[in-house]
Amino acid sequence: MPERVLITGGAGFIGSHLADELLRAGYAVRALDVLVEQVHGNSQRPDYLDPEIELIPGDIRNPEVVRGALEGVDAVVHLAARVGVGQSMYEHAEYAGVNTLGTSILLDALQDHPVRKLLVASSMSIYGEGAYEPVPPVERTREQLERREWEPRGARGEELTPIPTPESKEPALASVYALTKHDQECLCLLYGASYEVPTVALRLFNVYGPRQALANPYTGVLAIFASRLLNDNAPVVYEDGHQRRDFVHVTDAARAIRLALERDGADGRAVNVASGRSASILEIARALADVLGKDIAAEIPGTYRAGDIRHCFADVTLARELLDFEAEADRDEALAELAQWLETQSATDRFDRAAAELAERGLTR
Ligand SMILES: NC(=O)c1ccc[n+]([C@@H]2O[C@H](COP(=O)([O-])OP(=O)(O)OC[C@H]3O[C@@H](n4cnc5c(N)ncnc54)[C@H](O)[C@@H]3O)[C@@H](O)[C@H]2O)c1
Repeated sequence: MPERVLITGGAGFIGSHLADELLRAGYAVRALDVLVEQVHGNSQRPDYLDPEIELIPGDIRNPEVVRGALEGVDAVVHLAARVGVGQSMYEHAEYAGVNTLGTSILLDALQDHPVRKLLVASSMSIYGEGAYEPVPPVERTREQLERREWEPRGARGEELTPIPTPESKEPALASVYALTKHDQECLCLLYGASYEVPTVALRLFNVYGPRQALANPYTGVLAIFASRLLNDNAPVVYEDGHQRRDFVHVTDAARAIRLALERDGADGRAVNVASGRSASILEIARALADVLGKDIAAEIPGTYRAGDIRHCFADVTLARELLDFEAEADRDEALAELAQWLETQSATDRFDRAAAELAERGLTR
């Protein structure tokens, strides 16, 4: 009998790629997913889902459904979550409900259905600002941002250089989303330690690749830029576009999750899952326009979003040492493949509406 893995949120972007990765490796896969409209439209089952995947439509907040989904399951990968950072700032109850309460309901149900392994998707967003030298940064003040001084400084005004962020960096929770991802991570690690269930929190950085919901204006920057460009609109870059992130391809992220399922080196810990390389947002906007064949430069209105960080890219030493994980995707090849997939999609550009919602609430300035 192959091992059966339950992926909560398994119909989503990362979940479906993880399901493919696990099926290829010989696992049986079950997905529990409520198919949030903002992500999936009216679809009852996304076309990209492999027919081998057993899909249980249902809400992670429903204890009956969760208990049913756990029947006969050997391991759980918990990915179900609401994922919009900006949206989380004005839909507190929804984000706390799905992400924090939903995780607690899963953990309650797991007490009656013990599994051999529990993995949870955490996020780079819990770090807030990434790591810097020679001293830690202080959070950028509103006055500083109003002066369009984007780089964070030390407590005595020191100039700083961003460096790869290790797991030992203290969390700094700057959004409701980040707070709930931190909750999910802590709840699962605490559960694992208390009930002796090997548990790993995977701190995913900016994951990109095909199947990322384009119609969802709150997801990753690449999906947002892509939907702008496909509609012949310029991607809108906040600040000056030189902020740096770590983009990890979804097939690499899926492989890292499988490795955490199969190896025990990271049990009980939180581990960064990233490419180990950084890119500026402007570089990414340019590279994406190139692969889409669009001669459209990014628009830089000089506005900023409350709570945004300046730089965060990963130190991947721990994933290398504990999981033998190394990102392999070549960025330009991966963007070209993304472009091919994008051409088959009709991307609704909802960016303007999402931006207007943030502006109305005073969250962009
Ligand atoms: N994409 C990234 O860059 C990134 C980065 C860091 C962390 N993560 C985390 O990875 C996980 C997967 O994210 P994704 O990018 O694939 O997003 P996604 O929106 O494509 O996937 C999330 C899935 O969860 C489902 N879901 C939402 N609420 C649910 C509920 N109440 N009950 C059951 N299912 C529900 C959605 O329908 C969706 O299919 C999330 O936990 C997210 O926080 C993603």
